[in-house]
Amino acid sequence: MDENLLTGTMKINEKNHLEIGGVDCVDLAEKYGTPVYIYDTAYIKTKTRAFKAAFAKRKVAAQVAYASKAFSCLAIYQLMAQEKMSLDVVSGGELYTAIQADYPSEKIHFHGNNKSDDELIAGLDYHVGCFVVDNFHELYRLDELTAERKQKTNILIRVTPGVEAHTHDYISTGQNDSKFGFDLENGQAEAAVKQAVNMPFIEVIGLHSHIGSQIFETQGFNLAIDKVLTQAAKWKSALNFDLKVLNVGGGFGIRYTSEDKPLPIETYIHTIIDEVEMLTENLNLDMPEIWIEPGRSLVGDAGITLYQTGSQKSIPDVRNYLAIDGGMSDNIRPALYNAKYTGVFANRVNDQIDELYSIAGKCCESGDMLIWNLPLPKVQSKDILAVFSTGAYGYAMASNYNRIPRPPVVFVEGGSEFLAIERESYRDLMRLERSLI
Ligand code: LLP
Repeated sequence: MDENLLTGTMKINEKNHLEIGGVDCVDLAEKYGTPVYIYDTAYIKTKTRAFKAAFAKRKVAAQVAYASKAFSCLAIYQLMAQEKMSLDVVSGGELYTAIQADYPSEKIHFHGNNKSDDELIAGLDYHVGCFVVDNFHELYRLDELTAERKQKTNILIRVTPGVEAHTHDYISTGQNDSKFGFDLENGQAEAAVKQAVNMPFIEVIGLHSHIGSQIFETQGFNLAIDKVLTQAAKWKSALNFDLKVLNVGGGFGIRYTSEDKPLPIETYIHTIIDEVEMLTENLNLDMPEIWIEPGRSLVGDAGITLYQTGSQKSIPDVRNYLAIDGGMSDNIRPALYNAKYTGVFANRVNDQIDELYSIAGKCCESGDMLIWNLPLPKVQSKDILAVFSTGAYGYAMASNYNRIPRPPVVFVEGGSEFLAIERESYRDLMRLERSLI
């Protein structure tokens, strides 16, 4: 197998089994059942520290916020809080979970393109560190609410810089035609800043842009930084606007398959720092704090999913379908984005490869295919398929389609396990239902 896929603490042990966090995947599958998501928490910590170290090395003031939409639950928030990370939440539900984790309020950045009154109020009640204001509707509501409550709050203005990162269309958010943010080029962003700086209880601490996800190059960030800082320099004199924070969003790519070639964390960060330093100097701006919001790159390749193999269908001269006991209900990304994954039999990783299998999920939907044409040893009864890099937007986007209960989440580290989320039961599925008769 491609050893590059063995990220973090993953290895192949003496039994030819996949091991993660010092725990044998075959034992994990047996103990927790399948499907099951496993997270290598030591590796998540390594990543959080690598992002922070990259800024520290250059002595640049920064905040690294975990974009928790990638994987949100109590335990991951507790881990991120222990790591002294900032936190990006995008909904009342993510905020509620963060509050349950006692997340330090000043470290929370509240995102979202349609925050309800309840959500804005919950954010104000908890005194979140800042709101990332997405549109005029939100700006005016926040102005009213903060004035009513006589409560000061920090905001970042989210701008759409008109930069398209080279990635799948559905996960690009920086182009002009986007539901997110104030347009930088047509004057809406300027209008927003102009109004916001005069709002009595609103403190505009900076600007935010996010250009997309699963980005493998640095030009997109540089272009966006260029556009944002050029405007900031204009607004400094024209609007008396002082840019204290420049948030360049997330989107740092990870390896899903051998074809993906992500840059080292330090390369992304140092390129961003170089660009900001160069431009602030040229534009005569003070160096702002740089904030980033990685989601996928913190948890994506730290997570794997274990499935058990089941039925097979061989169509001569066409293909071998091999079904597993999960599918689009625990990983919607192949069906939604045509996302590519790879995997191995965790119970015999380096056995000889003799077949190509197309891995089918168990949902009633032809599009429920996890991986096409995966080279594997000839399948035996109850092989354990480990799919790599399922830690981001896997559990977070899981559903109960076909009334399939969501799998559990297990954290592993140093040979120990922690059941972070239990497996849903059939009873859980009916928890909110009332009988008609
Ligand atoms: N900041 C903002 C404002 C974002 O919109 C996002 C992702 C992030 C940070 C984190 O991006 P990351 O570092 O995780 O790429 N469901 C899709 C991804 C949607 C991303 C939405 N925004 C997927 O499964 O690929």
